[in-house]
Amino acid sequence: MSSDCEVVCFVIPTYNEALNISPLLGQLTQIYRDKNTKFLVVDDDSPDGTAQHVREFADGRVFLLQGERRGLGDAYVRGITHAMDVLGADVVVQMDADFSHDPAAAAKLLRRLEAGADVAIGSRYVEGGSIDERWNLRRRLLSRWGNRLARWIGGLRGVSDCTAGFKAIRTSKLREVGLGDLRARGYVFQVELLHRLLRSGACVVEEPIHFRDRERGETKLGMANMLEFLLSMLLLRSRSHVTFLKFCATGLCGTVVNLLSFYLMLRFGINKFFASPVAIAVSIFSNFVMNNHWTFSDRVMISRVPERGFKFAAVSLLALLLSYSVFVALSNFFPESAPLLLQACGIGPGALLSYYLNSRWTFVEKGTDKRV
Ligand code: GDD
Ligand code: MN
Repeated sequence: MSSDCEVVCFVIPTYNEALNISPLLGQLTQIYRDKNTKFLVVDDDSPDGTAQHVREFADGRVFLLQGERRGLGDAYVRGITHAMDVLGADVVVQMDADFSHDPAAAAKLLRRLEAGADVAIGSRYVEGGSIDERWNLRRRLLSRWGNRLARWIGGLRGVSDCTAGFKAIRTSKLREVGLGDLRARGYVFQVELLHRLLRSGACVVEEPIHFRDRERGETKLGMANMLEFLLSMLLLRSRSHVTFLKFCATGLCGTVVNLLSFYLMLRFGINKFFASPVAIAVSIFSNFVMNNHWTFSDRVMISRVPERGFKFAAVSLLALLLSYSVFVALSNFFPESAPLLLQACGIGPGALLSYYLNSRWTFVEKGTDKRV
């Protein structure tokens, strides 16, 4: 299944899955016989004795990690960390214990990693994927809207199944992004981790799967999880607001730089028609340096610095054109208004256009373009 010496570890969180865990481990150990494939059950002291079934399982590749119940996300962080640090996993496979995820389908995810992906999602919402017909309307709506919110508010563009619980991930990528400081406690962990992986430039692919409803036991997804989900999406979003504010602050600094250099040149007797474009160029340069090293500095970017500089200059000229057009248009409509006011009205649209293009093009992150 996996290349010779790679260690693949299935991480399976359980809470009250006594009815499911033995048959699941039975199937998994049958299908994946490689000695380097391991199975780690993360049980949060389930009162129904799930852990006992795992302990009784006679296969040296099955491991048990126990802990206090602090939510699905918490269990995953502990489990994945253990799989990497103690079991030496190169790849982890996240999977539910209730047969919603077909044990045989994990092979498809592993193949996508072998083909070069860093993350392979078992996806219900790409072509060929499906959900159980028995899922009631409430569950369907929750899942659909959860995904929409993750895309629209959380910013996980390009992914169809953002909340999926069935994924194969290269641990080299997980080490790169780090798990320790993830905020999520509950189910929203899936979205937060994916968000991080995408931002780091991971190559994320989706493989269609069928999601079966559980036959035994019950779902643990409750109201608290939904609230946490909403809050988390807003927090993910506010990060991009911080970026926008930094961009505006940079623009203000650029204005000061512009006026100051203009003033200094005049003081040195330089002609104002020469000083003006030079001051503009100087401020474009200082804006670029600040945006590159501060506003967008947390991004792993696609393009190199010279290319970014070139794009930034092009965007600045476009923004200048827009601001100027607004100024000219308003001057025609309101010839009596104070010129300073009209000039100020041009700044808003120019800044927005410039932010949009710089964020999506000049300083675009790796990963937003990668698909295999
Ligand atoms: N250790 C631990 N601790 N395990 C937990 C906890 C917990 O607090 N809560 C749930 N689990 C385990 C369950 O025992 C099961 O194996 C797995 O996590 C998924 O839980 P379910 O309760 O069956 O989740 P679901 O079917 O409602 O949700 C599925 O779909 C969601 C998206 O629609 C899961 O795949 C989610 O991961 C996914 O986000
Ligand atoms: Mn389930």
